[in-house]
This record gives sequence, C-alpha cells and structure tokens, in this order.
Amino acid sequence: MSSEMPSENLMATKVTDVGGTVKCNIDPIENQMSALEKMENIETMSKRQRKKLMKQKQWEEQRDLRKQKRKEKRLKRKLERQSQVELSNEGSVRKRIRRSIVPSTLRLIIDCSFDNLMELKDVKKLHKQIQRCYAENRKALHPVQFYLTSHGGQLMDNMNESDKGWINWKDINIKSEHFTELMKKEDLVYLTSDSPEVLNELDESKAYIIGGLVDHNHHKGITYQRAQEQGISHAQLPLGIFVKMNSRKVLAVNHVFEIILAYLEKKDWEEAFFTVLPQRKGAKPLNETTDTSTCKPQELETGSR
Ligand SMILES: C[S@@+](CC[C@H](N)C(=O)[O-])C[C@H]1O[C@@H](n2cnc3c(N)ncnc32)[C@H](O)[C@@H]1O
Repeated sequence: MSSEMPSENLMATKVTDVGGTVKCNIDPIENQMSALEKMENIETMSKRQRKKLMKQKQWEEQRDLRKQKRKEKRLKRKLERQSQVELSNEGSVRKRIRRSIVPSTLRLIIDCSFDNLMELKDVKKLHKQIQRCYAENRKALHPVQFYLTSHGGQLMDNMNESDKGWINWKDINIKSEHFTELMKKEDLVYLTSDSPEVLNELDESKAYIIGGLVDHNHHKGITYQRAQEQGISHAQLPLGIFVKMNSRKVLAVNHVFEIILAYLEKKDWEEAFFTVLPQRKGAKPLNETTDTSTCKPQELETGSR
C-alpha cells in the first residue's frame, strides 16, 4: 500500500459495520464493495462511520490521480539526474580546454612612447585597441608575455577616466619605462611595415615590438626610424606573400597583435592573416583575381573591428 495513504484509511482495514461484522479491506475491490455495502446502510451509520466512509471513497476515487502524480515525480527526478550528468560532463570538457592552454615565452610589447604625437581622439582609439589585445591574449591558446612600455601621458589619463579596472588586469606588464630599459637589445625586434626585412618565423625567445600609434599614416616610417636609431632588429609581417592588398600594408595595433597570437596557434601565416583581417578591409588571398586597389592604408589602420 502506498505511503501516501492516510493512516485513517489503514485503520479502515478493520471496520465493524452496522451489522457488527468485521471487514478486512486488503483488496481495493473488496474495499470498494464494502464501501458500496456501507453506502446502502448509510442511513443507519453513525456520524463518525459516515465520515470515515466518505474519506475512503475519496481515497479510492483519487487513485489514478495519485498514480499520475507519482509518475510525473519519477520523470522529474530522472530529468534532474540527466541534466546533472550533462553539467558535470561540460565542466570536465571546460577543464580539459583550460589545461590545454600553453603560454608562449614570446614577449609582445606595445610601445606607448608616441603619446605626444597623437590627438586625444586617436589616443582613445589606441586605448580600445589595447583593450582588445588584452582580451584576445586572455583567451588565447598560447598567450604571449604582454607588455605595455612607456605607459603614461594621455593614454594613462584616458584609461583612468574610462576604464579604472585596468589596474587589476592580469597577465600583463604595464611599465612606465622604455623597452630598452627592460630588455636586452639583442632580444628586440621592432615590427614595422617599412622594414625591408620580412618575418619568416617567430622566435619565442625574442621580444617583438608594436608601435602604439594611431596616426592615419601622418608619421610614415616613424617606427622604422626609431628601430634604426636604437640599433635594434626590425621586420615586417609577410603580408605581401599571402595577401593581395593596397601597396602599403599598414595594419592597426590590435590586428598585428592578433596575427601574432593566431600564428602561435596555427603556425601558418596565411591562416593567421585570414582569421584576423576582416575581408571587408580589402584583404584577399594572393591567388584571387579580385581588384583590391580601392583599399586605402588608413582603412586598415583603424583596427579594433
Ligand atoms: C597603425 S601602425 C603605425 C604606423 C606608423 N606610421 C609607423 O610608422 O609604424 C601600428 C603599428 O603596427 C605595426 N604594423 C602595422 N603594419 C605592420 C606590418 N605590415 N608589418 C609589421 N608591423 C606592422 C607597427 O609596429 C606599427 O607601428
């Protein structure tokens, strides 16, 4: 008998009817029969007996409903168990993904020493590009050792005003010093589109520098000039080998940063370029015949997608 059956009904298994006979209600049909018999004699029953009989009748009538409810409860519990199993599976997949993150030893620097050459609106754009670099590095499979050097001036003011949270950024080195004060000269490679050298591979023991500049090409060649003055190596990305664009291949800070991250993951420049560079910016594979001469260098420099 179900545990939901009221105790009063259990007592009804031994009911003395008006005729003084003791009835045992083990079988529900027998139970119903006895209820019917009692219904016939209802007039002659005491108030207490009538109440008991009505309760018993109600109990019998709701049998199907109780069965249905039990069924629903069982199904609900089953579904809950299933979703718990799914959740724990998902958790272990996430853990596995987390474990496969292998930080690169490559240092990637954004040189912020051009602050006084920019108008505030361009400093704000640079700030957005840096935010993007930070976010991309945090979710990369092979995150780089990220540095902001010569940090200060308008950029720092803007960061303090619009994104105070930068103070708590993790896995980034924000330094007021110039990169030459922080690293060995022989480790440094300035990335600049004006260099005659073309980068073939990335050397993960090196520190690559990106010019922290949004200048709409007003300061053409400035990073190449700086690299030469400081006597450090320089190189341009091998864009010309894989990408058909306009004649000058000047990219925005975050695009260069993301290409480096993508290359570290894919070990393939072409794939890295095309996962990062938006097609609408005019970048096309070299083997495509579409005319791309309408793309201006400035369009690629605005960055941050
Ligand atoms: C918007 S560009 C600044 C252009 C600036 N007139 C200059 O002389 O570098 C931002 C930075 O991205 C990097 N960059 C852009 N295009 C590049 C390319 N094709 N190869 C290597 N680095 C590039 C350079 O470090 C550059 O300073």
